[in-house]
Amino acid sequence: MEEQKHDLVIIGAGPGGYTAAIRAAQLGLKVACVEKEPALGGTCLRIGCIPSKALLESSERYWEAKNAFHAHGIRFNDVALDLPAMLRRKDQIVTALTKGVESLFKKNKITRYFGQARIEGAGHVIVLSEGKPLEIKCKTVLIATGSKPATLPGIEFEGDRISASTEALSYPDVPKHLVVIGAGYIGLELGSVWKRLGAKVTVLEFLDRILFGMDVEIAAEAKKLFEKQGIEFQLGSKVTGARTRRGECMVECEGMKPITCDRVLVAVGRVPNTEQLGLEHVKVELHKKGYIPVNEHFETSVEGIYAIGDVIAGPMLAHKAKDEAVAFAEHLVTGHGHVNYDTIAGVVYTQPEIASVGKTEELLKESGIEYKKGVFPFRANARARTLESVEGTIKILADAKTDRILGVHIIGPHAGDLINEAAVAISFGASSEDLARTCHVHPTLGEALREAALAVAGRSLNI
Ligand code: NAI
Repeated sequence: MEEQKHDLVIIGAGPGGYTAAIRAAQLGLKVACVEKEPALGGTCLRIGCIPSKALLESSERYWEAKNAFHAHGIRFNDVALDLPAMLRRKDQIVTALTKGVESLFKKNKITRYFGQARIEGAGHVIVLSEGKPLEIKCKTVLIATGSKPATLPGIEFEGDRISASTEALSYPDVPKHLVVIGAGYIGLELGSVWKRLGAKVTVLEFLDRILFGMDVEIAAEAKKLFEKQGIEFQLGSKVTGARTRRGECMVECEGMKPITCDRVLVAVGRVPNTEQLGLEHVKVELHKKGYIPVNEHFETSVEGIYAIGDVIAGPMLAHKAKDEAVAFAEHLVTGHGHVNYDTIAGVVYTQPEIASVGKTEELLKESGIEYKKGVFPFRANARARTLESVEGTIKILADAKTDRILGVHIIGPHAGDLINEAAVAISFGASSEDLARTCHVHPTLGEALREAALAVAGRSLNI
C-alpha cells in the first residue's frame, strides 16, 4: 500500500474542512484533505447554501418583474420564465466557487485526496477510491464530514418526486403542487423559490409554529407574510407517510385526509455523517442523538482525533463550522483559539429575510433573565421605503440592569446583512446605548437597527 505523511489529515472539504485546511496550512502545517465528491466545497457550496441562494435570487427577480416593478413605474409587456437558464446560472455559480476552493488548496499547498476516508487509528487514515487504497500517517485527524438530510418513517423517496433538498434545487419543471414537509430553514427557502416560480405550495409542520428556535413574535410575523405571498401552512400536521402512485404523490398526515400533489420536499432536519469512518473501530464515542461529542478544543474521546461542524453538537450552519475550523487550527498550532457561540447568527433567506443572533425572548424568560425590549418597524425607515420593502421589524433585547445586548431578531429587507452588525455588538459586549449612540449613515437600513436600540430606552426618534 502506498504511504503518505502529513501533520494534519482532514476528512471532508466543506466549509469546516476547507477552512481548517487553509488556516492550518497558513500556520505552517503539512495538510491533507480527503473528499469523496469530485468537487470541493461540501454540501454548502455544491447542494446547499449557495445553489439555494442563487435560485432564491433568480426566483425573486422573476416574481418582482411580474408583480412588483409597477410600483416603481416600470412595466414589462412580457415576462417569461426560462427555467433551464435559471438552473444553469445556479450551476455555474457552484462550479466557479468549488473551483475557487481548489485554487485555494493549491495556493496553500494542501494535498487533496479523492475517496472515502476510514480512520484506522489515531494518526492513521486509509483512503479508499477506485484504485489501490492509500495509507496516510499523520499526527492529527480532523473529522469535518458534515450532515445529510433526515428522513421520516413511512416516506418512500423517489427521484425528484419525493425527495430531500438536493433534488428540489434542480426540478426540471415548476411543480403544480409542491408539498413541503417541515417549516424550517430549508422548507421555507425552497418552498419560496417554487412558489415564486408559479407552484402551489403547502407546508406541513408538526409543531404549532414555524421556524422552531427563532423568536416567536418574529416567526409569527414571518408566517403572516408568507401566507400573504400565497404559501399555505398546515401546522400541527404529523406526516406519517409519502409515496408515489401512478405518477402522483400522496402524503399522509395523522388524523387528516391524504394530500395529493406532484412533488414532495422532505425538510425535517439533518443528521451528522458519521458512517463508514471507522469510528466504532477506533472507539470514537457517539452521542445517542448521532453527533460526535468533543471537548472545548474539539477533541473527541480519542486523543489526536478531532471533529468540527455539523458532525458535532450545535446549529448546523456553515459559518459555525468555519469559526470552529479556525479555532481548531489555531489551538492546535498556537495553544489558543475559541468560538463565541453567542455571536453565531442564523439567517433564513426568504423575502423578507429573517435573521437572529443571541437569545430569544422565550429563552430569556425561561432562564429568568430580566430584559428590556426595543422594537422598530421597517415601515418607519426611509431607505426601506425607497426599496419598496417596508414589511418587517427589528427587535433588540438588552439586559435590564446592565443594558448589554443579549439578542437581536430581524425580519425585513437585508436582515441577513444587518445581523452582522448585531453580532459585532454582542461580540464586543456592547450595550443598546452603545449601538444607539453610534452614528449610522442616512438613509440606510442600519438606521432601523439604531432606532430599535433607541427604543430599548424608550427614545426612538422616528416613530
Ligand atoms: P429544521 O430543523 O430547520 O426544520 C425541520 C422542521 O421539520 C421542524 O420544524 C420540525 O418540527 C419539522 N418536522 C419534523 N418531523 C415532522 C413530521 N413528521 N411532520 C411534519 N413536520 C415535521 O430543518 P431543515 O429545514 O431541514 O434544515 C436543516 C438544517 O440545515 C438546519 O439545521 C439549518 O440550520 C440548516 N440550514 C440553514 C440554512 C441557512 O442558514 N439559511 C438554509 C438551509 C438549511
